[in-house]
Amino acid sequence: MSSAAPSLAAAMQGGGYYNRNSALQAANLGSALPLLVAAAGEVATDGAIIGIADYGASQGRNSMAPVAAAIDVLRPRIGPDRAINVSHIDLPSNDFTSLFSLLDEDPASYLAGREGIYPAAIGRSHFGQVLPANSVDLGWSSNALHWMSRNPCPVPDHGWGVFSGDAAVRDAIDAQLDADWANFLRARSREMRPGARLICQFMGRGPETHGFEWMANAFWQSWMDVADAGLLTREELTRIAAPSAGRSVAQIEAPFRDGRAAGLALVDLAVVRAPDPYWAAFQESGDAARLGQVWADMMRAANGPSFAAALDPGRDRGAVLDAVTGRLAARIAADPQQSCSYNVIMVIESTKTP
Ligand SMILES: C[S@@+](CC[C@H](N)C(=O)[O-])C[C@H]1O[C@@H](n2cnc3c(N)ncnc32)[C@H](O)[C@@H]1O
Repeated sequence: MSSAAPSLAAAMQGGGYYNRNSALQAANLGSALPLLVAAAGEVATDGAIIGIADYGASQGRNSMAPVAAAIDVLRPRIGPDRAINVSHIDLPSNDFTSLFSLLDEDPASYLAGREGIYPAAIGRSHFGQVLPANSVDLGWSSNALHWMSRNPCPVPDHGWGVFSGDAAVRDAIDAQLDADWANFLRARSREMRPGARLICQFMGRGPETHGFEWMANAFWQSWMDVADAGLLTREELTRIAAPSAGRSVAQIEAPFRDGRAAGLALVDLAVVRAPDPYWAAFQESGDAARLGQVWADMMRAANGPSFAAALDPGRDRGAVLDAVTGRLAARIAADPQQSCSYNVIMVIESTKTP
């Protein structure tokens, strides 16, 4: 392993860019929505105030429908007068301004036409406790938990450590995934009320492959192309890596087996093939350039900030990201493919006694 400083997780590209370029993530969370609706109909609702927590909310576009659906099931159960607090949790650098603008102004806001709802934002990592003990009745996390707290070591040969040629790097990533997951669960165990439920959807791994190889390789290759064109140095390239990776079923189950998820039970866990809405649109339109552009914009929205954080101070990050986005769009347009990724969907319940 090389000795360059490893990278921390960075928030999504700001200025509402992620909100405008996250149709893939919106499609991903669809498979977990029925679990959230079912949980909203079944959780205990004893508290004076009902607490909903949205872990890894980003700029909020993809939280509107799930939170609205949960409220619409909870409201008839709790009556018109009880308050519902909705806490949107994300990293301190997240673009919370876009989230609150959306809440205020967008017709899709879960506030529209609903009373007694109190949204709040928490700019802290969900790998620690971020809400008071026993304050969450219903938790939700979509497309967020494959982001690690950090890359545990430098990844000089790829943009994602799980695809490094160095087995020691891959092992270190797996150890980080495990530690982060256990920390996440420990914190939720404290925050959730007895009987509360938490629904999570995030990137998984397939039986043979991670499933994300195609796009990860195409994105990384685009960064190498841009380095070849002289827009960044090889030294910068060795520092670049996104701290994200899918987990296997065994990795997800581990803390529930070995006691690190005390107070929580795994009620439901499935790995499903992720939808590819971009491919479906391409099948209709035959527009390969558009297919390339939507993938490139989504990859920039989600991974651009993590990658760009490793560039030299003073480097024109916008220009580099423009160049990488253009290369990736052209690469996909030249060889259109359907993505083959996997989503984990799961239900966790608090088994604490009141
Ligand atoms: C791909 S976005 C998902 C946003 C939204 N939930 C959705 O489904 O589209 C992942 C989000 O997780 C956030 N995130 C990553 N690590 C986090 C952490 N440790 N604590 C809180 N949020 C985190 C990122 O900042 C980002 O906003």
